[in-house]
Amino acid sequence: MVTAVAQRLAAQRREINDTLARLSLSSENLQQVKDKMRVELERGLRKDSHSTASVKMLPSFVYRTPNGTERGKYLALDLGGTNFRVLVVKIRSGIRKSVRMYNKIYAIPLEIMQGTGEELFDHIVQCISDFLDYMGMKNTRLPLGFTFSFPCRQTGIDKGSLVSWTKGFKATDCEGNDVVEMLREAIKRRNEFDLDIVAVVNDTVGTMMTCAYEDPKCEIGLIAGTGSNVCYMEEMRNIEMVEGDEGQMCVNTEWGGFGENDCIEDIRTRFDREVDEGSLNNGKQRFEKMTSGMYLGEIVRQILIDLTRRGLLFRGHITEPLKTRGIFETKFLDRLALLQVRAILQQLGLDSTCDDSIIVKEVCGTVSRRAAQLCGAGMAAIVDKIRENLLKHNTSNTVPLELCSFSRILKDTVKALAPQCDVEFVLSEDGSGKGAALITAVIDKYLYAMRLSDETLMDIMKRFRRELGNGLCSDTNPTATVKMLPTFVRSIPDGSEKGDFIALDLGGSAFRILRVKVSHEKKQTVQMESQIYDTPEDIIHGSGTRLFDHVAECLGDFMEKQNIKDKKLSVGFTFSFPCAQTKLNESYLLTWTKRFKASGVEGMDIVTLLNKAIKKRGVDIMAVVNDTVGTMMTCGFDDQRCEVGIIIGTGTNACYMEELRHIDLVEGDEGRMCINTEWGAFGDDGMLEDIRTEFDREIDRGSLNPGKQLFEKMVSGMYIGELVRLILVKMAKEGFLFEGRITPELLTKGKFETKHVSSIEKSKEGLTKAKDILGRLGMEPSADDCIAVQHICTIVSHRSANLIAATLGGILSRLKDNKGNPRLRTTVGIDGSLYKMHPQYARRLHKTVRRLVPESDVRFLLSESGSSKGAAMVTAVAYRTLACLWASPSPSPADRPAWMR
Ligand code: BG6
Ligand code: BG6
Ligand code: GLC
Ligand code: GLC
Repeated sequence: MVTAVAQRLAAQRREINDTLARLSLSSENLQQVKDKMRVELERGLRKDSHSTASVKMLPSFVYRTPNGTERGKYLALDLGGTNFRVLVVKIRSGIRKSVRMYNKIYAIPLEIMQGTGEELFDHIVQCISDFLDYMGMKNTRLPLGFTFSFPCRQTGIDKGSLVSWTKGFKATDCEGNDVVEMLREAIKRRNEFDLDIVAVVNDTVGTMMTCAYEDPKCEIGLIAGTGSNVCYMEEMRNIEMVEGDEGQMCVNTEWGGFGENDCIEDIRTRFDREVDEGSLNNGKQRFEKMTSGMYLGEIVRQILIDLTRRGLLFRGHITEPLKTRGIFETKFLDRLALLQVRAILQQLGLDSTCDDSIIVKEVCGTVSRRAAQLCGAGMAAIVDKIRENLLKHNTSNTVPLELCSFSRILKDTVKALAPQCDVEFVLSEDGSGKGAALITAVIDKYLYAMRLSDETLMDIMKRFRRELGNGLCSDTNPTATVKMLPTFVRSIPDGSEKGDFIALDLGGSAFRILRVKVSHEKKQTVQMESQIYDTPEDIIHGSGTRLFDHVAECLGDFMEKQNIKDKKLSVGFTFSFPCAQTKLNESYLLTWTKRFKASGVEGMDIVTLLNKAIKKRGVDIMAVVNDTVGTMMTCGFDDQRCEVGIIIGTGTNACYMEELRHIDLVEGDEGRMCINTEWGAFGDDGMLEDIRTEFDREIDRGSLNPGKQLFEKMVSGMYIGELVRLILVKMAKEGFLFEGRITPELLTKGKFETKHVSSIEKSKEGLTKAKDILGRLGMEPSADDCIAVQHICTIVSHRSANLIAATLGGILSRLKDNKGNPRLRTTVGIDGSLYKMHPQYARRLHKTVRRLVPESDVRFLLSESGSSKGAAMVTAVAYRTLACLWASPSPSPADRPAWMR
């Protein structure tokens, strides 16, 4: 009898052992997990394998950890862990360096977690509203950092579209959408307070930042909570999904998804599969489901059901509580004392014997041990990767304290699997909200005003379109800011133009004189020779007479060198300023822009002024064109579809072909005419005040034409460098940069040029360039300073590209409506140093245009040969027309150009 009992017990024991053995991992198993994790990490980082990688390695756009100089007052949201928190975080720097936090926890009811996206975000905003009331802060517009603990595909620090919900969330209409936008919209819907959402961060990233604030060596963030995930600082050159090779960026691994491609099926058990099947996201987050708090209790319950069913537990009796999903909370898993286990089982209504308690305790221990080992193996893969990146190896984690053996096993596993790495674990006492606030502070509170959402850009596009209409209509033109000047150019080159011309190109960064020969053998060919002449400051700021004398002298010199002194050549004059034209060669300067300010020219016909200066040099000024028009014509020479010309250089402007019937200022209704918009003046009536920053105002105050060309001053090459300089000065003064030191050079206007912005932005050598350039200004920037400066340059130039996209979008949508086609197919001719030299500028512009005007196919054609070829084309047409007039018996005097009369 006794032997029979003993045998039965032994057999039971074996069965239990066998069952649990499937959950015990050998060191070989763990080594394999580590190796496979490493493979997936690499696949996630690489462009060619990213889309199929189970570990997504999402860029976070956090480039550095805090350095202790951060300060300010921020709001933070912490959504996605066990608790939803709203916090206010006050950060002080300097000797009084400290972080103070006030927070309130709010519940998110299940029906909201799994309701509609709108309900969820409305609920969040309602909690924020309650918190602001509670803190008495409704009227202070604070920057907000948003810890959002779900996988987000970020395209910037404040842009992240939700890849997919994980854990217990499943609200509709959120996946694929930008969570920052959804939050903004909910704030707008409530219409009660305003916030600037500056950063969205994963909880792992927030945790890493929190810990790094205390310990600068910290470069990994681990969450072992409801979910399981890790982030770490990766070398930019390894992150193929983001452009740029310099420095580092924090990568949110989303390792919870590891195994979605079946690569860990060998260690998954049927219990894991059952838990997976009963979850909200079957098949997804397989690693998370083996390692994180939300699922461990469920794995235990599945094992207990199985053992009970087989008569090995609870006397074979499956009770209702045991059938209840979620009854085992993860926090029960590590209760060591048997008595406690028994008490818990009793609490759960599970009638257990002493043996049962032993078995349950064993099951819990096995499940949580496996979880810790798996996290350890994953972590070993990460620290190895970092070691290979030749960095220090320190990590922070948030391991729930109840699971104390969890962290011990985790550490042991890391040690065993990555013996060459010395990893220190720091518990984040303050959660991730502090980190989110720190990130918000690192980004600098001044710059968020420069990041324009698509919604804002769309709005600016609409405003600009209204301005186009106002400029064209005779009633509203006198007060319109965008002058919409008729150019008397009625078509783009048709290929029949020919002749030998001189072109003057004045008003861009260089003054050029060219000879353009357009011949017509079999094919139209253009030959050009050019020379650049100086235009010293005292001349462009002196008297008009001197300026035009200078132009005439240079022309004389050029003709002599070209040996054409005695030839009677026609001149096309690219004059890159706003001019009211009455015909092709009568052109009254409305106002100087950019660097020019010669006296006695505004209001005058520049053809008359130039003719006076040229005196008897035997040249005829046939046509005056704006540089945008010259550019459109140059590009139109190669692509007949070209009907827009834009310049993004020293200044900025655009022209396009408008229907004559819409141009009130010119008679006639048939056909089209090119309109020089002079969009640089957009905003001169206060229309852009909501997006202008204090830096834009400062630039304007220090300019030659205060209150004018306000749009141009936010975007064009003459001002970008200065904008960056002003931001650097302000940040340094506030202690955010250069340890608060500023040299007299940095304080000098114009010392930071737009070409510097371009070279600092270059991904490869940008940071070295930043060091050089700042060094030449007497600064000694740290590596972090250089990264910050690069970031600032990027934000300023991105804003420029985005704003141009908005105004260009306005023109394109007007062209589309003019044509009445559902889709617009067109070519934009484009020129200017900012567009040509600035890395990524063109791409950014093209992308934004496509987003803002999706119903268009736009070809951007860079004008390789400047605007002069186009000016020559216009001249050729003018010449031909005149030749006809000449030949006709009696051209009416009114039809004759000025010089003929
Ligand atoms: C908190 C962090 O401390 O831990 C959250 O502030 C994070 O951002 C959470 O999501 C993770 O743990 P749990 O157990 O709440 O999921
Ligand atoms: C040149 C054109 O290529 O670009 C000029 O020939 C134009 O007419 C100029 O003004 C604009 O760019 P930037 O950078 O020189 O002002
Ligand atoms: C889930 C989320 C991840 C988060 C983790 C910890 O894995 O997908 O973004 O970091 O849970 O909360
Ligand atoms: C300024 C001028 C404009 C010119 C542009 C680009 O905005 O006013 O005429 O086209 O600069 O050079």
